[in-house]
Amino acid sequence: MFKLFKPVLANGDIAGMLFSSGKNWQEQRRFSLHVLKDLGLGKEISEKLIAEEAKELCDELEAHTGEALNMVDYLWVSVFNVLWRIVSSEKLGRDDERVKSLMSIFAPKNDSGDTVLKNLLTSIGLPAMYFLSRFFNVDSFMKTIQKGDITGYILSVMEHHEKTFQDDSKRDFVDFFIEEAQKGGKESFRGLEGRKNLRGLIGDFFAAGGGTTATGLLFTIMYLIKYPEVQDKVVQEINGITGRSRQLGTSDMARTPYTNAVILEVIRMRDRDALIIPHHASASGWVGKYFIPKDTIIHMSKGAVLHNAEHFDEPGKFNPERFIDGDGKFINDPKVGIAFGMGKRRCPGETMARMELYIFITHLLDRFILKAHGDPKDLSLEPLHSMINFNKPFKMMLEARA
Ligand code: HEM
Repeated sequence: MFKLFKPVLANGDIAGMLFSSGKNWQEQRRFSLHVLKDLGLGKEISEKLIAEEAKELCDELEAHTGEALNMVDYLWVSVFNVLWRIVSSEKLGRDDERVKSLMSIFAPKNDSGDTVLKNLLTSIGLPAMYFLSRFFNVDSFMKTIQKGDITGYILSVMEHHEKTFQDDSKRDFVDFFIEEAQKGGKESFRGLEGRKNLRGLIGDFFAAGGGTTATGLLFTIMYLIKYPEVQDKVVQEINGITGRSRQLGTSDMARTPYTNAVILEVIRMRDRDALIIPHHASASGWVGKYFIPKDTIIHMSKGAVLHNAEHFDEPGKFNPERFIDGDGKFINDPKVGIAFGMGKRRCPGETMARMELYIFITHLLDRFILKAHGDPKDLSLEPLHSMINFNKPFKMMLEARA
């Protein structure tokens, strides 16, 4: 996909899914979707893992009620661990250097929104900046990755899996990949090529799946703090179903129209002016009345749909009710799906991300009242713009629900 980045990504190798194209991308994407569907995405096992991580997060947060919290420090690791357990069956601690390195790539430290990833993505998005940025942003991206020795860790996980692999009890994504490699069928799974692709895929899941989902959760928390009446309504809906005797799961989604609407409206608001990862035209062709020459870099605008008055009444207004029909039923408006991309490269983690948003938020609201630290008026919901819209750093407080 990104010819420009060939020299700097993955030490010159375009591997995995996010940055590859053609036959390699096709084989890797098809395989990943198949395995993640059977093994995890949209299935019981990932829901179980998400619920475990959400419960553990709430248990840990209980010791911090009444304190000024930087939620990113807690939430990010839990989201990361859902993915990491599916991929490798391993789990990392909150203070692990590798987690800290990854967090410093994603989580903005100040209102300017500068993160290593943002700078890298901006340079991908602006080819004119590419020449200059490759010396600064990409270099700092690589340095951050090296600081926590993330590549070394990924390689050690791959080696450990190869040594302990058992055909009749596959543990996780890496095991399924090893099985495919041993079959020796498709070229992109064999030998060195296969190892590069597995390393690339693992990196893709974190780059594309960790920060995006954690930030989605942080935005949802911020909106619930800013609009306490919306928070109360969600809590009433949850309690009406569980009577506070259990946690909600995805099988309850059909009975929680308002909670679903709030989550969808936050997705819409968060990405109201974001662009999608740039695509590269591999051949010339017409799209409607536009001629796209080969090698054009194409940006799709999420904002052109999500923040367009033709599609959404008063698009700048936070209004979950827009997704509730006259009978009180949830309208799962497919237009909001553009937040996950369009076409053949649409996000393969959408189901999992939506599941995580639902389960983490309902777990948190069952146990805590989410409050601002200081005046809620000072909480800014303005996204920090990049290829991924980040939230501005904020502090909050939790009060245990009686
Ligand atoms: C709220 C959470 C998420 C959002 C908003 C999001 C959004 C996106 C978007 C906009 C794209 C680009 C689509 C395109 O190029 O047309 C993408 C691609 C991708 N996403 Fe997600 N994503 C999220 C969560 C996840 C999760 C949880 C995973 C991991 C399982 C994931 C894995 C990927 C991968 C691997 C790609 C590259 C697909 C390809 O190039 O074929 N994403 N995502």
